[in-house]
Amino acid sequence: MEQEYSPAVETPGSEMLRGFWYPALRSRELHGRRLHKSMLLGVPLVMGREAEGRPFAMRDSCPHRGIPLSYGHFDGKEVECSYHGWRFDARSGQCKEIPSLMPGSKLRVDKIYATHFHAEDQDGYVWVYMAEAGVKVDTPPPAPRLAVFSDRYKIAHLAAPLPVSVDHGIIGLMDPAHGPFVHQAWWWRSRRSIQEKEKTFEPVPNGFRIVAHSPSANSAAYKLLGVYGKPITTTIEFVLPNMRFEQIHCGDYWFSSRTTVTPITPNECRIDFCAAWNVFRWFPLMAPIFRMFGKRFIGQDQRTMVQQSEGLKYNPALMLVDDADRPAKWYFQLKRAYLESRRKGGEMQHPIPGRVTLHWRS
Ligand code: FES
Ligand SMILES: [Fe+2]
Repeated sequence: MEQEYSPAVETPGSEMLRGFWYPALRSRELHGRRLHKSMLLGVPLVMGREAEGRPFAMRDSCPHRGIPLSYGHFDGKEVECSYHGWRFDARSGQCKEIPSLMPGSKLRVDKIYATHFHAEDQDGYVWVYMAEAGVKVDTPPPAPRLAVFSDRYKIAHLAAPLPVSVDHGIIGLMDPAHGPFVHQAWWWRSRRSIQEKEKTFEPVPNGFRIVAHSPSANSAAYKLLGVYGKPITTTIEFVLPNMRFEQIHCGDYWFSSRTTVTPITPNECRIDFCAAWNVFRWFPLMAPIFRMFGKRFIGQDQRTMVQQSEGLKYNPALMLVDDADRPAKWYFQLKRAYLESRRKGGEMQHPIPGRVTLHWRS
């Protein structure tokens, strides 16, 4: 039996990758002058929306004595700390006023900053750019955006907290072998439907993808889109730090989804699923039906990971075996390569040399 990596070694102390955007909240959660708490990569955040509508994020900790700024007040422009009333510009984190100072004080108030993060609305989420600790990034890359292929489409969002490290969340997300066991349902598949699968993967920047293919006859895409009678193609892609994209095209019809697994703390993550489509747009109940099945599907993964976390408490030795676990191995290799390139500087050495065909049963 092949056992190249032991996640028991990989996952405790599993590093949460900096230098990327992560979805912190749903956009609709930020409104008015309320301050919201959030947590990303173990960093407590205070978030809000400026009067003009732009989201902002700062470390939820006053640079004076560390009380969470989220207990303070926000007037649409500045956050006022609840303890001694220091005021911070929401857009930059810069200190604007220290009420206890005497007129003529030499203290340079404008040199004091609350730790500030770039924040942006995209696809119904407020994304926060988690720069390397201590590194100031003036212009981060654009926040991720879900690919859509027509002007009119429907969009839906689902989320579930998972009580495991981001690594377990991600390898669970990419794991082809649990489907027939965890996601059994009369309307979709059962363990009796297990078939041999053969898929070709290729490297992409920061990740890998399954080369465009027609979905297998026991897949949900095939069962739904078969009615259009056109060829169906699917692409699935994973990119660091945490994103899985899936696109299905059938003539002019398309379905596009993105699943992210966001590290909250070293032992908690959250799965966010966002999908857009123009298939069956004429059918009024499509969105609620989609949500219902989606919730059930994610709920099955969530229940499994709650159970898994029970086992992981005692630090068991674990295995990654053969081709079904190859994407998980690639994930750990990519992560290591990324961290290495950050440490040493220079280009990231991609661990996947070229096209590889994998075989498994699911
Ligand atoms: S702790 Fe925030 S102003 Fe003093
Ligand atoms: Fe799953």
